[in-house]
Amino acid sequence: MTELKESALGLDIVPLAGYIGAEIHGVDLRDPLEPAVVDEIRDALHRHKVVFFRDQAIGHGEQIAFARLFGKVTPAHPHEDNPPEGFPQILPIDSRRYEENLGRKRTSYDNSWHTDVTALHNPPAASILRAHILPPYGGDTTWTNLVAAYENLPKDLRDFADRLDVKHQFNSRAIAGSQRDRKVREANLVAYHPAVRVHPVTGERALFVSPGFTRGAREIRGFSPSQSERILKLLWEEATRIEYTVRFRWAPGSIAFWDNRATAHLAIADAGHLGHDRVLYRVTLEGDVPKGVDGRESELVSGEPFYGS
Ligand code: SIN
Repeated sequence: MTELKESALGLDIVPLAGYIGAEIHGVDLRDPLEPAVVDEIRDALHRHKVVFFRDQAIGHGEQIAFARLFGKVTPAHPHEDNPPEGFPQILPIDSRRYEENLGRKRTSYDNSWHTDVTALHNPPAASILRAHILPPYGGDTTWTNLVAAYENLPKDLRDFADRLDVKHQFNSRAIAGSQRDRKVREANLVAYHPAVRVHPVTGERALFVSPGFTRGAREIRGFSPSQSERILKLLWEEATRIEYTVRFRWAPGSIAFWDNRATAHLAIADAGHLGHDRVLYRVTLEGDVPKGVDGRESELVSGEPFYGS
């Protein structure tokens, strides 16, 4: 049965799945939001890990202003050099661009499970994605709750994972030798993160193994490549078990706001071959340097920290 929480502030927060995801109704993001409403959305984000809004008739400026209520807004992406004019914080997720940049038609830039830009020493704290143009069917996105994934591991496996440090790196998927390929290689983003990170607000532990950014290196400090690969496969599988996920069907004006410290997501690659366009716009909030359960911090190997304003 659907649990419906109606707050004193008029927000309805409707959970969508057993471990993750809620839709928030009763708020119009064109209006100035009361501090208490902002607090309630933030609490819902931390509780449900990803929250969704429907039918929001907002543009780039309002999306950035909404994001600023929750933290510092970063530039669009460490590799983005063509954001919409006047909006350097907006990352277009635009199928019309990918054919040119990546050499093939696709509906999102990464169709593997990942947590946003974990090759950075300080990956974004949260991301806010707004849908603009969508295929008539297909092109959904799925999120997984990395806290549930950690908490449901057997204790011995939790204790083992607590001690691991995993290499995250940004691999170029662009056409070899293209301007984008050169840019990705020059920035060379590489960091080691604890496999289990402690959320700075909730104190919860999350299984922070971002397959899209750890699959290239397949390296856990102190283990051989083949040992690392086998351990990572186990952790990736646990992190993305179907029961920890929620799948969201986009419509124009839909917004997803996710806690990038407690989730990973997957843009489902089931629409690119149909030739339909899919255009969404993302902003990210500046993140902290992850900390493991014993307080050890992630290690920067290469690349610049990514700050917002
Ligand atoms: C993203 O990975 O931030 C984009 C997800 C999507 O295209 O649905």
